[in-house]
Amino acid sequence: MFVLGIESSCDETAAAVVRNGKLLSSVIASQIKDHSAYGGVVPEIASRKHIEAISPVIEQALRDANASFRNLEGIAVTRGPGLIGSLLVGLSTAKALAYALDIPFAGVNHLEAHIMASLLGEKKPRFPFVALVVSGGHTNVYLVKDYHRFALLGQTRDDAAGEALDKAAKLLDLGYPGGVVIDRMSREGNPGLFCFPRAMKDSPDFSFSGLKTSLLVLMKKRGKDFAQNELPDVVAGYQEAVVDVLVEKTLRTVRENNLSQIVVCGGVAANSRLREKFSEAASQEGRELFFPPMILCTDNAAMVAALGEVMLENGWSDSLDLNAVSRWPLALPSLRKDGRD
Ligand code: KG4
Ligand code: ZN
Repeated sequence: MFVLGIESSCDETAAAVVRNGKLLSSVIASQIKDHSAYGGVVPEIASRKHIEAISPVIEQALRDANASFRNLEGIAVTRGPGLIGSLLVGLSTAKALAYALDIPFAGVNHLEAHIMASLLGEKKPRFPFVALVVSGGHTNVYLVKDYHRFALLGQTRDDAAGEALDKAAKLLDLGYPGGVVIDRMSREGNPGLFCFPRAMKDSPDFSFSGLKTSLLVLMKKRGKDFAQNELPDVVAGYQEAVVDVLVEKTLRTVRENNLSQIVVCGGVAANSRLREKFSEAASQEGRELFFPPMILCTDNAAMVAALGEVMLENGWSDSLDLNAVSRWPLALPSLRKDGRD
């Protein structure tokens, strides 16, 4: 099936074309430079930039796929969770196209799309598997039983891991988005010199707000003496604390549920230290690890199109009165420890 995917939940306007599970094109217009002066995404600016970018991005995705609107057999679009004004730009565009072309469309959950991006990799996971979704807005561990069938096994109680990285970068005045800068700078630092706390060691849940506070305390203590040549070590130590808890807790959940496959996805899955430490730990424990292709970790429409194609082929389509949703949990916390129904 020829499917166009559209993504506009935060600060990336993206469109992609897939056909029979194969990615034909993926175009991403990032708004990073529009928000960097503010150190974070400004919702009103994001919506306006999506409106400017959406048509050119879709046209480019079709051109790159050697396709035209007439080839399309379905449309998939991120319905939520995300910034409501941003989501509405993609959703309204998808509905207008579906109506004009008289083809079905499906509203996709952004978190599920992040997980299913792993199905576009060369090595694909098989259900059931454990998925860590780790982005700017989410840090969740799911038992993924099938499409649309999830049990939430662990989640952050406060900040998301990406948010913890972004906030640290902001405190240290390193630029935006912080995750990428911290990843790069940490390669020059020693992660063992500054020790940051690993919170809630015995829980499947995460907490990152204390980590940010301990960085603030360190900065206050050092005051002006915070030597610039120490910065890579501080940043590497901070990143290490984030990475360690993500790896340890996810692997423990995998062991407790007796599963063999792990998907790690979302923007922070692009982090080089996370990929390295997860790969080491998973191979030591004999688990199979799946990362989506690097470019499909951060927000994109390929993951939306890929999931949408599966949904549409299985008869899942939405009506034209579908609304966007800013909050849309994939699953409620499972009542049983093993996450089974
Ligand atoms: O999935 P995503 O693009 O958007 C959300 O759905 O939130 O994730 C964005 C997050 C940001 O917090 C960003 O700092 C982080 O992913 N990120 C990274 C890296 N690239 C993006 N964090 C660590 N290392 C990276 N290389
Ligand atoms: Zn995302």
